Amino acid sequence: MSDTVRIIEMGPRDGLQNEKTPVSVEARIAFIEALVAAGLHTVEVGAFVSPKAIPQMVNSDQVLRGVNHLAGGEFHVLVPNEKGYEVARAAGAKVISVFAAASEGFSRANINCSIAESIERFKPVVARAKADGIKVRGYISCALGCPFDGEVKPQAVVDVAKKLWELGCYEVSLGDTIGVGTPVKARQLLRAVSGTVPITNLAMHFHDTYGQALANLYAGMEEGARVIDSAAGGLGGCPFAPGATGNVATEDVVYMLEGLGVRTGVDMGKLLAATNEVSRLLGHPPVSRVAAALNAK
Ligand code: HMG
Ligand code: MG
Repeated sequence: MSDTVRIIEMGPRDGLQNEKTPVSVEARIAFIEALVAAGLHTVEVGAFVSPKAIPQMVNSDQVLRGVNHLAGGEFHVLVPNEKGYEVARAAGAKVISVFAAASEGFSRANINCSIAESIERFKPVVARAKADGIKVRGYISCALGCPFDGEVKPQAVVDVAKKLWELGCYEVSLGDTIGVGTPVKARQLLRAVSGTVPITNLAMHFHDTYGQALANLYAGMEEGARVIDSAAGGLGGCPFAPGATGNVATEDVVYMLEGLGVRTGVDMGKLLAATNEVSRLLGHPPVSRVAAALNAK
């Protein structure tokens, strides 16, 4: 596998959205600067969602404004509706992400509407973004299982992926929100969805709740997927997904990829420093196995 993989760093958004300790705008900006300096050029930096739903993401406009000038960076933000779109555009967003789910239970819990209603909400957002020259990425949560509805069939994911792709999302990210997937299921999912969205336009967004994320990524890579969402230090989780823990750790992904001969361009020392600093602010050590191993040296 001596080719390239694109990593979308989730630490400042998915990573911080579930943390008890609030992190200031300045510290969020410093975290993003450190990640970009470590070679992680694509970073999801915030969310324009209800502050009642996710107080951790308030002032995401200030964060985006604070990093938009960084050379070589591509910064993503979550946008659930037109209200969020207005703020994102005003703050200079160049890439936004809409987020749907493959299960009705999670759609309702997370964004307070059905899957079909969410797609209707995204239509004007995507149309306006297109007119404004802003790229739109699409997420599908609970692609490998739902905390409310249980098993999720690949066809349910295919149906939502088709809608997001037809709306005009340039990439569809498949979220194992609660980290229940296993490699064969991940492979079957990638195989099924790539019948509708080209494999090169699919991202793998796997949480590591059951310790399966790296194995699932490897299975997805064997299917040809080359875009990985991960979070520094293994931060992450969604407050509306009971039991969910962090994203697969960027350190662990980089270690695996480099071991496979896939060049990531990430400086592990600088990434570790960024992870250690945010962990210090949050008051707990990183869950990344690689970070723990390197810190113990
Ligand atoms: P709602 O209650 O149905 O919306 O929420 P509403 O239109 O009735 O508005 C209710 C209140 O929210 C109003 O304020 C609105 O102004 C405000 P009030 O009058 O009560 O003071 N509001 C907003 N405020 C700021 N920005 C906005 C916005 N929209 C409405 N854009 C809504 C619907 C989607 C807004 C809400 O449910 C929400 O914000 N949900 C966000 C959930 C979220 O951020 N979850 C975490 C991210 S998703 C995730 O982590 C999964 C992912 O990582 C992939 C994976 O792992 O699977 C992406
Ligand atoms: Mg997530």
